[in-house]
Amino acid sequence: MKGHSERLRQALEQRAGRVGVIGLGYVGLPLAVAFGKTGFSVLGVDVDRERVARLKAGESPVEDVGSDDLATLVAAGRLSITTETGALTTADAIIICVPTPLGKSREPDISYIVAAADAVATVLRPGQLVVLESTTYPGTTEEVLLPRFKARGFTVGEEFFLAFSPERIDPGNKRFDLRAIPKLVGGVTPACSELTRVLYGQIVDRVVPVSGPQTAEMVKLFENIFRSVNIALVNELAIMCRRLGLSVWEVIEAASTKPFGFMPFYPGPGIGGHCIPSDPHYLSWRTRLMGYEPKFIAFADEINRQMPTYVVQMVTEALNDRAKAVRGAKILALGVAYKAGVGDVRDSPALEILEALLVRGAQVSYVDPHVPRLKIGDHQLMSVSWQSANLASRDLVLILTNHPEFDMKRVAAEAPLVVDTRNATGSLGPRSNIIRL
Ligand SMILES: NC(=O)c1ccc[n+]([C@@H]2O[C@H](COP(=O)([O-])OP(=O)(O)OC[C@H]3O[C@@H](n4cnc5c(N)ncnc54)[C@H](O)[C@@H]3O)[C@@H](O)[C@H]2O)c1
Repeated sequence: MKGHSERLRQALEQRAGRVGVIGLGYVGLPLAVAFGKTGFSVLGVDVDRERVARLKAGESPVEDVGSDDLATLVAAGRLSITTETGALTTADAIIICVPTPLGKSREPDISYIVAAADAVATVLRPGQLVVLESTTYPGTTEEVLLPRFKARGFTVGEEFFLAFSPERIDPGNKRFDLRAIPKLVGGVTPACSELTRVLYGQIVDRVVPVSGPQTAEMVKLFENIFRSVNIALVNELAIMCRRLGLSVWEVIEAASTKPFGFMPFYPGPGIGGHCIPSDPHYLSWRTRLMGYEPKFIAFADEINRQMPTYVVQMVTEALNDRAKAVRGAKILALGVAYKAGVGDVRDSPALEILEALLVRGAQVSYVDPHVPRLKIGDHQLMSVSWQSANLASRDLVLILTNHPEFDMKRVAAEAPLVVDTRNATGSLGPRSNIIRL
């Protein structure tokens, strides 16, 4: 009994074990590379054949993972990449990092987790640790994964080990990399927690155990809801400040000088990415089943989701003040990714804003060094290069993502009219051609 746990602990501590990662996207790939760099033999599994081919060729599609690092690990045989989940039988620890999107009615779509859990159930053998990292509703690990694994006839905490450990990475964030972000761990049993702590202790500076998987699942959702609610608060503050003729950016800056009890969040054209717009609904759905309808989550979501419409209205008014219509206006969007420094356009507010402008007859183009192509409705757009973008010839330049590649002095000097939803031009002070959120 004790044998499995002890053997696994030793293998993990000595980095002699094999780590399997299911889902090699924004979360799974950096994790696989981190374990590989630490000395583990890593097996990465992804169902996307095209992605697997690219990864095998040492091409990283994720900004935070350098192609050089990836190629070195692949060439050294320390990171094997495959579409075959069967190979996971050789892994000592298996980490699941698959997507958790929303369904059509904003209900959790855990079909990827179910598929991954079914795949793991078929290869599970005594002595393995399985960790779920995908963000999901409280109860998933014990209600969806555990029964599938128990059905193999193994005892959790003795023969196999199971935990939830949410990913908290912030793609593009150079200040807090994977190692610097404390890792939460909630095991089904104390032995599960302990082994998961040992596993992650090899790649992060600090592991924080909590009482169980449900708590760990809830903490992750709370973190994302905290962001959603606070972003909604400043988005509404921005709308109120504009009505009052105040700069929301100045208000936030000044409030930030308070050394306690305040934390700055910033308004923008809307929320995007795989997490903030979706994850809070996982909790709403869960508590609704138990007879409680959450209020903050719905309210924050409503405010955040109206921001793209608000930005379209700002653009319309800015053009109108110059006796121009949206129809026929040449509008250049700067940035379409949901945040600076990344090429992820999932749920990016830029999609909704540009679509609304196209529907109104604007001639829309965009510059995004991280997003070479963009499909909006029936329109296929290609990014204009930043160097050759003719800013002076546009009726309006719309700043949606403050990528570090953009030179805002150039924007302010060349563009006749700018709508800046990110305060990217803030340091340049008031300018007659710039309208800020
Ligand atoms: N992107 C982020 O910043 C971030 C941060 C923290 C947490 N998360 C959470 O982590 C999870 C993964 O997010 P992501 O952004 O890495 O998603 P992603 O779409 O970038 O990557 C997921 C990968 O999983 C693969 N996949 C899907 N089903 C599979 C299966 N059955 N077997 C093998 N591979 C499979 C997909 O092909 C894809 O490559 C989600 O739950 C997300 O909410 C994401």
